[in-house]
Amino acid sequence: MMPKACRHALRAGVCALLALPLAGCFEQPLSILDPAGPGAAPITQVWWVMFWGSLAIYLLVLGLATYALLHRRRNGQAPRRALLIGGGLALPIVVVFLLLAYGIRSGQAMLPLPTSQTVFRVDVRGHQWWWEVSYPDAPGGALYSANEIHIPAGVPVDVHVSTEDVIHGFWVPRLGGKIDAIPGRTNVIRLRADAPGEYHGVCAEYCGVQHARMALVVYAHPAEDMPARLAALAGAGVDDPADLQDTQGARDFTQHCLACHAMNPRERSSQPGPNLADLGVRAMLGAGTLENTPEALRDWLRHHQARKPGNRMPQAGLPDAGFDAIADFLEHSSTP
Ligand code: CUA
Repeated sequence: MMPKACRHALRAGVCALLALPLAGCFEQPLSILDPAGPGAAPITQVWWVMFWGSLAIYLLVLGLATYALLHRRRNGQAPRRALLIGGGLALPIVVVFLLLAYGIRSGQAMLPLPTSQTVFRVDVRGHQWWWEVSYPDAPGGALYSANEIHIPAGVPVDVHVSTEDVIHGFWVPRLGGKIDAIPGRTNVIRLRADAPGEYHGVCAEYCGVQHARMALVVYAHPAEDMPARLAALAGAGVDDPADLQDTQGARDFTQHCLACHAMNPRERSSQPGPNLADLGVRAMLGAGTLENTPEALRDWLRHHQARKPGNRMPQAGLPDAGFDAIADFLEHSSTP
């Protein structure tokens, strides 16, 4: 007989092992089990219903199978047909239809249905491998940024999702479900952050070699701070770096970077590079590849093909001083 203490230890060990796969699901930046708005809460609920429901069905099936085995051993024949038809046919049909109805109802919360509240609009366009972000209703006209989205908290936000190239998937798990960015069309998903905060997102559709480095962050601000946020973005960057030929950085940027990267927040980059007008206040470089620090920016300019292999930015052939000059220029002109 195993001593009592050993039995307790064994039981605790088994429980810990069973809990392990779930441990990573709580209070993580990308956790669907930690919803922060009405678009995500029904998904969490569906998850738990599925979890406990499948556990209950598993136990029920085990029980019925055990009963059938014992029945056969005792009576020399299989149990009544009613049990087989009920457990093997009727029960799954009922369960599947209930789940279908429940799933459809839960999905409604993510649809951009009419509301009496004002809806804040953000356009997000997938590129290999970054997110173009724009605020089409900003005072004075559309504003452009990349990979980091600012929204008001407590307000419904309609995200109009499209793509420049292949299929991407826009997903901010704590705020809502996934929605695909499909060539030739625009899909709309409604998100709402209940409280100000930082909500992380990823690309949820395999889209090529750097699919994994296509992260985004949603910052929810108190609603009354949003006009100031948009004004700060409008004031970031420079109208035209070609006008600023007095510094080495502006000259190098114009020569090597401007063809792909706009520096004016009112201007959509004409070529594949993200708008860099507010780069100085972004938290990340390379869509989540590096944390945005002065050292990382200089490292990125020199070694971006090593940090994010296959990204669309050609390696500029510049002396070290040239990279530093561009980094200086970006830092000084992209902080609102
Ligand atoms: Cu974009 Cu995966």
